[in-house]
Amino acid sequence: MPSTPPHPHPASEQAATATVQLNHTAVYARDRRRSAEFLAGVLGLAVGAPFGPFLPIDLGNGVTLDYYELRDAPIQSQHYAFLVPEERFDAMIGRLEAFGVTYYADPRHTEPGAVNRLFGGRGAYFEDPDGHNMEIMTRPYVRP
Ligand SMILES: [Fe+2]
Repeated sequence: MPSTPPHPHPASEQAATATVQLNHTAVYARDRRRSAEFLAGVLGLAVGAPFGPFLPIDLGNGVTLDYYELRDAPIQSQHYAFLVPEERFDAMIGRLEAFGVTYYADPRHTEPGAVNRLFGGRGAYFEDPDGHNMEIMTRPYVRP
């Protein structure tokens, strides 16, 4: 049995962690252009200029999604959730419908064509071209 590690967040570090923000992450895609334009199109954002092997979407909050092509290995589906303005939610749903992309109320994709009402907001899930499970929601999860 391994020994119990010390508490990972002693009180002296808690204030420091509050200043750590996600800056960017790579999103794997077969075709970075296709996938980045898909998500940017749904969210109403722009695809940025290529940065080396990355094709970025600036989310406007200091976080960049860097689309990166992975061609020689299967792409593991990941989950990405986007907190979006309530007043833009309908337009996003409209663009999914215009693109012919099914959206669902639940993360397991059993309730097609419906949105959820979690935490007093609205939300929906949809797949991107590589099978990533994307979520849009107008209220953040209420966590314990
Ligand atoms: Fe989620």
